[in-house]
Amino acid sequence: MTERPVALVTGASRGVGAAVARALAPTHDLVLGGRDRAALDAVCAELPGARPWPVELTAVTASDVEAVDRLDRLDLLVHSAGVARIGDVGETPVEEWRRTFEVNLFAVAELTRLLLPALRAARGQVVLINSTSGQRVNAGWGAYAASKFALRAFADALRLEEHPNGVRVATVYPGRIATDMQKDVREQEGGDYDPSRYIAPESVAKAVLAAATATPDAQITEITIRPSASLPV
Ligand SMILES: NC(=O)c1ccc[n+]([C@@H]2O[C@H](COP(=O)([O-])OP(=O)(O)OC[C@H]3O[C@@H](n4cnc5c(N)ncnc54)[C@H](OP(=O)(O)O)[C@@H]3O)[C@@H](O)[C@H]2O)c1
Repeated sequence: MTERPVALVTGASRGVGAAVARALAPTHDLVLGGRDRAALDAVCAELPGARPWPVELTAVTASDVEAVDRLDRLDLLVHSAGVARIGDVGETPVEEWRRTFEVNLFAVAELTRLLLPALRAARGQVVLINSTSGQRVNAGWGAYAASKFALRAFADALRLEEHPNGVRVATVYPGRIATDMQKDVREQEGGDYDPSRYIAPESVAKAVLAAATATPDAQITEITIRPSASLPV
C-alpha cells in the first residue's frame, strides 16, 4: 500500500486551520498544530489519520519538530495560525507590534526553516494564509497589515530560494472570514458580527486545496478571495 502524503497545519484547533484540516483529511495524513490541546483532540477525533501537535509557535524549537513521528518527509505545510489586534499607530505600543510579528511572521519563518529539510525531501509545498491586509492597508490596521506585508515578502523570498529544490510556495489572501478572529475584530471595531457577510472558513480551505493539489507542472503562487457581500475592490 502506498503511503498517503503528510500535511502539517498550524492554527488547526479552530477557524481556517481546522477547516483546512477537514478538507485535507480524505487525502492526507495530518499533523495539527495549536495551543488548545482539548480543541486539537476534538478536531483529530473527527479525522482519521490526524495527530495533535500542541505547540506555542512563538517559542517553537527543533525539539518540538523532532517530537513529531514520521516527519522526515513533509508534502504540505499550511501556516494558518495568526493574531489580529487593531489600533491606530498612535495608540499601539511596541509590545503589541512585537506580539503581532512574533506570531504572524517570526514563528512562520522559524517553523518553515525547521521543516525545510523535510519539505525538500518530499518536493513539498508551503501555503501561507495571508490577508487582503497584506495587499492594501486601512487606517487602524498598521501592525497587522505590516506583519502580513512582511509575510508576503517572506513567501516571495522562500519561493525564489526553494525553486531549485522543487519546493513550491503559495500565498492565500482572504478578506474577512467568519471565525473567532473576526468576532473579536468586530468587537474591537464596535460593530455587529454577522457571519453571513463574511467568507466561510471552508471556502478558504477550498482555495488552499486548489494550491495544494496543483499538478507538479504548475505552481499556484497567489490566490485572493473576498466575501461576495463586499465590493470586489
Ligand atoms: N478571520 C479573518 O477574518 C481573517 C481574514 C484574513 C486573514 N485571516 C488569517 O487567517 C489565519 C487564520 O485565522 P482564523 O480566523 O482561523 O483565526 P482564529 O479563529 O483566531 O484561530 C487562530 C488559530 O491560530 C492559533 N494560534 C494563535 N497564536 C498562536 C501561537 N502563539 N501558537 C500556536 N498557535 C497559535 C490558535 O491556536 P489556539 O486557539 O489553540 O491557541 C488558533 O488555532 C490567520 O493567519 C489570519 O491572520 C483571517
